[in-house]
Amino acid sequence: MIHAVYPGSFDPLHNGHVDLIRRAARIYEKLTIAVLHNEAKSNALFDTNERVEIIREVVEGMEGVTVDSFDGLLADYTREIGATVIVKGLRAISDFEYELQMAHLNRQLNPNAETTFIMTATRWSYVSSTRVKELARYGADVAKLVPRATLRRLHEKLPH
Ligand code: PNS
Repeated sequence: MIHAVYPGSFDPLHNGHVDLIRRAARIYEKLTIAVLHNEAKSNALFDTNERVEIIREVVEGMEGVTVDSFDGLLADYTREIGATVIVKGLRAISDFEYELQMAHLNRQLNPNAETTFIMTATRWSYVSSTRVKELARYGADVAKLVPRATLRRLHEKLPH
């Protein structure tokens, strides 16, 4: 049984993330979605608990998928939970250099965890949490970009 971890900020979860979770869950028997606890991040909209709650709502019923949060190094967290695969999404070449560096460093820190990449579905390749937040802050409709759980929380957080 392969245990994979899909780490990220998920502030907030968008449709590109959801697609990746579904596809990774088909490959790996056990998938832990790990939300980085980064309260200090200046443009954070949702706190860690809120981000975890949104994801839990969306993955409910998906077999083998659990949601957790972590702080510190991903390599240490991966070791702690016994995961042997790190899953990352690649939207475009622009993501690649950063991810390549992270993959090498994480492998050095934890040689037992292998980073794998799933190419983001073309239809979500332009979506990022940063853009979703920006649009929502200006009152734009992001219903086509995020799952219902995220949309509801965005409306609660940013009433217009
Ligand atoms: O969704 P994001 O913001 O692109 O996710 C980035 C994340 C959480 C995967 C990355 O920042 C991370 O792994 N942070 C934990 C600290 C760490 O391990 N840094 C890498 C040192 S090689």
